[in-house]
Amino acid sequence: MASPDGRVDLRSDTVTRPTSEMRRAMAAAEVGDDVYGEDPTVNRLEALAAERTGTDAALFVPSGTMANQIALRLHGRPGTEALCGERAHVMRFEMAGAAANAGIQLHGLADEAGCFGGADVARAVEASGYHRPAVSLVTIENTCQAAGGRPWRVGEVEDVAAAASRAGVPLHCDGARIFNAAVALDVDVSALTGPCDTVMFCVSKGLGAPIGSLLCGSREAIAEARVERRRLGGGMRQAGVIAAAGIVAIETAVDRLADDHRRARRLAEVVSDLWPGSVDPAAVETNMVCCAAATLPEKLLGALGERGVLAGMLDPATVRFVTHRDVDDADLDRAFEALRDIALEMA
Ligand SMILES: Cc1ncc(COP(=O)(O)O)c(C=O)c1O
Repeated sequence: MASPDGRVDLRSDTVTRPTSEMRRAMAAAEVGDDVYGEDPTVNRLEALAAERTGTDAALFVPSGTMANQIALRLHGRPGTEALCGERAHVMRFEMAGAAANAGIQLHGLADEAGCFGGADVARAVEASGYHRPAVSLVTIENTCQAAGGRPWRVGEVEDVAAAASRAGVPLHCDGARIFNAAVALDVDVSALTGPCDTVMFCVSKGLGAPIGSLLCGSREAIAEARVERRRLGGGMRQAGVIAAAGIVAIETAVDRLADDHRRARRLAEVVSDLWPGSVDPAAVETNMVCCAAATLPEKLLGALGERGVLAGMLDPATVRFVTHRDVDDADLDRAFEALRDIALEMA
């Protein structure tokens, strides 16, 4: 089901539009003032998020960025460092929010493989000291979008969590797409969130809701997060109208993420057949296909756009395609036709 203007939009899973079931739930949502904690639909969404992630409590916030920023403020001490993947969203795409909002510096660890290990955390902590800032937090990104949506395995999360715990610092997970990780690895999402102190996930990405993310953690952390949300201007009032779609997303959209993963793999196979070396299809485990731009025709995105297919640049070296619920098999076939046509034309 292409977008209303007929284009096949593979730029991001954030472009998904709410389903009719979500729209019905939104129209019928019971609401109250959530800043007073009185919106029953928001409360239901937060309880559901906590239950699914195996945490005590959750907080509904407008965006994944705000959830990450709240986590940085909760855990990070001003004048210290948070360790994260060097290509993490929190490092690259949050407008230096760590410095502006939390007074902390981000310390990027090599994440070429899509993750880093407990030994990397231990080394960075050991290197801190009199001449170098202390480490007050570790963050991971699951799935890791810069590594083509690679999911962190349970053992990898546990390894980093153990190192963080040995260093006496908390672990936050940017789990914008943690349900993609859980589906791809065929594990309960709580196995991936359990080792972390706080976890955020988005209902507004592959799960298809229009707006919102949940920050999950201990009762104390989430009580504090509620204050931070207010401080950042994220307190919403009758937010049940959007939370209702989030509930439908969590209850109905998780299993179907496997379709997006299957389609991403097919897409990677086609791109790699047309331009060998551009992407390794076997490494595509979730809904992202990240291709080496240098191996693709220079004007690929423009030529795709002329044929009604949208893709994007993750960074100057990487062309990214993302599959999601608003791209079905017929849309994908259209994208393949456009890619083959361009390959012939530019050969
Ligand atoms: C890994 C990751 N974390 C955080 C975010 C931020 O989410 P939002 O766009 O809701 O602020 C994104 C957004 O694309 C993301 O990909």
